[in-house]
Amino acid sequence: MIKNLKEIKNIKISSKIASETLFYISKYIKPGISTGKINDICYDRIVNYHNAYPASLKYMGYPKSICTSINDVVCHGIPDYNCILNDGDIINIDIAVCKNNYYSDTSKMFFVGKPNNLAIKLCKVTKKSLYLSLNCIKNGGQFKNIGNIIQNYVNSKGYSVVKNYCGHGIGKKLHEKPNVLHYKNNCNLIFKTGMIFTVEPMINIGSEDTFVMNDGWTVKTKDGSLSAQYEHTILVTDSGYQILTL
Ligand code: MF3
Ligand code: CO
Ligand code: CO
Repeated sequence: MIKNLKEIKNIKISSKIASETLFYISKYIKPGISTGKINDICYDRIVNYHNAYPASLKYMGYPKSICTSINDVVCHGIPDYNCILNDGDIINIDIAVCKNNYYSDTSKMFFVGKPNNLAIKLCKVTKKSLYLSLNCIKNGGQFKNIGNIIQNYVNSKGYSVVKNYCGHGIGKKLHEKPNVLHYKNNCNLIFKTGMIFTVEPMINIGSEDTFVMNDGWTVKTKDGSLSAQYEHTILVTDSGYQILTL
């Protein structure tokens, strides 16, 4: 699970492409655009501008280049030309990139027009839970603190942490060991300098329970409550961590 200098260099290059694409797409996120169109713009940016590959495309049969998860969709929403963004929606866009056979993965929430205060607060709390949890990362620290920090903070705000999906090691593949849990756990794994993994908490306003739709991918909250997610690819260092997908 520990990457060498060449691997780290290449994962950093891949990560820059993923985060640039996530930044690039932000100006298009407005009421009226379809998630299919958002997908196509990201595909074009990744393939024709960055000369890279959208790692989600054909991953385990996934049909599109990015994931677009709106409102009560927790993750893995499939872009569709018939799915139009509405004023007040919140949407997670998740971009995974492969460049020179090295992988990166990042996502964030976007506001469509003017969402209500509850939706905005959910996104704010979710983002803060990710950044708070990163503070425990340094060589010698414990993976379990990530989940402990996220769950304590999120529950204190009255929200719930999705337990059915987790962060993951990343580098030579999109999903590598270890699983990175976002909830209280007793994992005894230790951070080592050179490890690279994602942290990507999914937070619900209501219950943590989820289900997968008939398309085989789209994950929604069971109770229909809003869900938010932020994701970064992280490198462990001697003194702390680097966010590779800033
Ligand atoms: N980007 C997702 C993650 O955070 C994985 C998407 S794979 C797909 O791990 F097939 F659903 F696109
Ligand atoms: Co991920
Ligand atoms: Co992702």
